[in-house]
Amino acid sequence: MSRIAYVNGQYVQHSEAAVHIEDRGYQFADGVYEVCEVWNNQIVDMPRHLDRLGRSLSELSIDWPMSRPAVEFVLRQVVRRNKVRNGLVYIQVTRGVSKRDHFFPPANVAPSIVVTARSSNPAAVNAQAEAGISVFSYPENRWPRVDIKTVALLPNVLAKQSAKERGGKEAWYVDADGNVTEGGSTNAWIVTKDGKLITRPAESGILRGITRTAILDLVEREGLSFEERPFSLEEAYDAKEAFVTAATNIAMPVVRIDDKVIGNGHPGSVATRLRELFHTATDLKVV
Ligand code: PDD
Repeated sequence: MSRIAYVNGQYVQHSEAAVHIEDRGYQFADGVYEVCEVWNNQIVDMPRHLDRLGRSLSELSIDWPMSRPAVEFVLRQVVRRNKVRNGLVYIQVTRGVSKRDHFFPPANVAPSIVVTARSSNPAAVNAQAEAGISVFSYPENRWPRVDIKTVALLPNVLAKQSAKERGGKEAWYVDADGNVTEGGSTNAWIVTKDGKLITRPAESGILRGITRTAILDLVEREGLSFEERPFSLEEAYDAKEAFVTAATNIAMPVVRIDDKVIGNGHPGSVATRLRELFHTATDLKVV
């Protein structure tokens, strides 16, 4: 089946989809994005993702490319036209096409929008969750505005690639105080030896993950012991459990950090339970 992408008002063949060479996303990484999970024919937490998209756009003074209901419509259409039952839908909005100049373009330049969707293999993701993943620490080297979901992901690319070359699936950024901030494309969590869930506050230093927010709702509903505070890499090494969260992998258990085995080296019961219950705590919009 051929894939379809949405580019600036048109549904086109994915293989032929293109933006202009002077799109500011291409030249300056001057754009933002969202990734939503598609689960059982439903888009997971679309309202929260679009709220965050709106916030990212507003922080960068980029206009919505079209009305929010129209964006919702296109997200659904792209999922539907690609027959994605389980997978991801991606939206990217940039400041538009204009001659290369660091200053913002004239007000009549419209933002660019691209939407794509692709299927995942739930069995493969679940198999990974049953085994757990390894993560490797990496010095925090990103700009302070990581709360904005921009496409300027080069530091994340380099950190994740470094982890991959050491046999890992994710990198955990560690700040100058020795605290874990987040993963290259995930939020970071631990469970202490006395069973308390810990994740860093999202006021600064991390992206406020939509998956993180849904898990916090679940933690409250289930009455789990929880504290939102920074945790150090040393504390993570010594944790009973660790896991990461993102739209791409829900709650993914971590069984190794650097050369340290976490807990008994198998996915922990808290992460596994949160993963199982996850979609009961999310908004699900049928495509
Ligand atoms: N990444 N932190 C960073 C740096 C991220 O890039 C992401 C998501 C998250 C988790 O956010 P959410 O729960 O809303 O997916 C945290 C997406 C999935 C990506 O870049 O592919």
